[in-house]
Amino acid sequence: MSELYSITKKIISGGKGILAADESTGTMTKRLDSVNVKSTAENRLLFRETLLSSQSMKDCIGGVILYDETIKQTASNKKTIPELIESSGTVPGIKVDTGAKILANSTKEKITEGLDGLRERLKEYYKLGARFTKWRAVYIISENFPSKLAIHTNAHALARYAALVQETGMVPIIEPEVLMDGTHNAEDCLMKTSEVLKKCYDELILNKVDLKGTILKPNMILPGSTSGEKIESKKIAELTLKCLKESVPSDVPGIAFLSGGQTEKEAAENLNEINKLNNTNFVMTYSYGRALQQSALKFWSNNIKDINGTQNTFNHRAKMCSLAAQGKWTAEIENK
Ligand code: G3H
Repeated sequence: MSELYSITKKIISGGKGILAADESTGTMTKRLDSVNVKSTAENRLLFRETLLSSQSMKDCIGGVILYDETIKQTASNKKTIPELIESSGTVPGIKVDTGAKILANSTKEKITEGLDGLRERLKEYYKLGARFTKWRAVYIISENFPSKLAIHTNAHALARYAALVQETGMVPIIEPEVLMDGTHNAEDCLMKTSEVLKKCYDELILNKVDLKGTILKPNMILPGSTSGEKIESKKIAELTLKCLKESVPSDVPGIAFLSGGQTEKEAAENLNEINKLNNTNFVMTYSYGRALQQSALKFWSNNIKDINGTQNTFNHRAKMCSLAAQGKWTAEIENK
């Protein structure tokens, strides 16, 4: 177990966080389509290799979550992608769920799949160099959702996943994402996220998962994206801390938030406020996909040969997130 604790520490300590580059081919195709780049295996690799070779990998990124396609690819310097990541002192990770499908006896809610054959797939990923993993459950908020059924079944799957991952010697990231979509207010998000998290920890404990060798990847507490409600960053931080303090056992060493549709600036500012007010034992950092890659992707799509320019754009974003993970981000530094 001490190996798991040191992997966890390496990923989240010292103002470092996680680059979530684990978009499935379908999602990555949507991202590339949006900037008019053809989604081929070569282009997906080219963009990802550009980020993975940047300076901020050494300074700001403690772990990278990969997708099945990428963990098996080779960089232009002949290193495998996990070797390229390790050469920056960063830990390679892998998304191991196989996606969220409609839950039987529900019309809208989803259950995340991937438990069948997981033990064997984990062994293969370990051999390829992965030392941590991710499994994402998704929940929607409305008057009747998330239902008890969605909360219970997803928590059970997350816990069985986490137990298998620790058995293989890797650190599981537990990601119960309560989506931002909807007209709900921030108080509803707080209440529903707390219910989801509490059930996850009931199941994790029942499945004998060692919480000290895990990382939680939750949503921040935000008003629904179509609620019309705007609240200050400080309020978001207060609600998020209240939720986590009440629902997450103190054995959990680190919390790495998803960005979930926030802009790059919002994701940095809100994380910064959380760290300024953090009165818990949890390390509070980032595990961002869009909020780390969006500007770099846009720049790259217009300047596909400009590796330095793309890396500079990514380095700036990673630096902003790292400052936010230490409560040292400011709007002035952001706009420099
Ligand atoms: O599962 C979600 C991703 O790993 C994080 O992506 O920061 O764009 O929400 P996001």
